[in-house]
Amino acid sequence: MVQLTLPRNSQVTEGKVWDKPDGATNLTEYRIYRWNPDEGRNPHVDTYYVDRDDCGPMVLDGLIYIKNKIDPTLTFRRSCREGICGSCAMNIDGTNTLACTKGMDEVAGNVVKIYPLPHMPVVKDLVPDLTRFYAQHRSIEPWLKTTTPAPEKEWLQSHEDRVKLDGLYECILCACCSTSCPSYWWNGDRYLGPAILLQAYRWLIDSRDEATGERLDNLEDPFRLYRCHTIMNCSQACPKGLNPAKAIAEIKKMMVERRV
Ligand code: SF4
Ligand code: SF4
Ligand code: FES
Repeated sequence: MVQLTLPRNSQVTEGKVWDKPDGATNLTEYRIYRWNPDEGRNPHVDTYYVDRDDCGPMVLDGLIYIKNKIDPTLTFRRSCREGICGSCAMNIDGTNTLACTKGMDEVAGNVVKIYPLPHMPVVKDLVPDLTRFYAQHRSIEPWLKTTTPAPEKEWLQSHEDRVKLDGLYECILCACCSTSCPSYWWNGDRYLGPAILLQAYRWLIDSRDEATGERLDNLEDPFRLYRCHTIMNCSQACPKGLNPAKAIAEIKKMMVERRV
């Protein structure tokens, strides 16, 4: 059997245990992945204690508490705090999800373990580099494409056609699904992954779009679409309850239907 050894400087080591907040009695422990490219040391896991009597209930509230009151160098993304922007996606307690919609009390054992989204390059601490992910999104041309002249007022759509976009338009591009997909881990440079394919289907199924054939041509490739093996991790991971695996299956169906 092949023996794989991680490079020495990639192994995650034990980090610092930070002091408990003075006088606090209601504590939750956070164990957080830290890595700073400017320090030249291995990634490590620091331990912090959050005073629950001085902090909101969500995992993101705890991170903000730590940054504001204990360690201002801790780096993570967040914006809306409402599950809308997708920027606080991270791996919490072994699952990719949004820190702002995950309650501290939902985490087993009162220890919140946090890593960046898996299998992505890390910029710093909990911030993954999503450059490739966004380039892939750009590659599917996620906008309405038409050839007929634009109507005077707006492109109309029947109620039935509009309903077809439900379960698709809600995607916030958080990348929780793509970074939980084994096919995307190993072939992320060529396979588009569940998030981008769900977005692709959102435009394929839009009754107002007139570039369906061109869009399918763009996906007709052994890697871009066909690396999905229906493992379903993506649909389990989605914090918005969407089903990217089903969207991918629908694209494959459209590919078959246009051949017959
Ligand atoms: S169903 Fe397809 S896209 Fe979803 S996790 Fe499995 S291989 Fe990845
Ligand atoms: S399908 Fe769900 S998990 Fe994937 S990017 Fe969209 S919202 Fe995030
Ligand atoms: S901060 Fe916007 S989704 Fe969490």
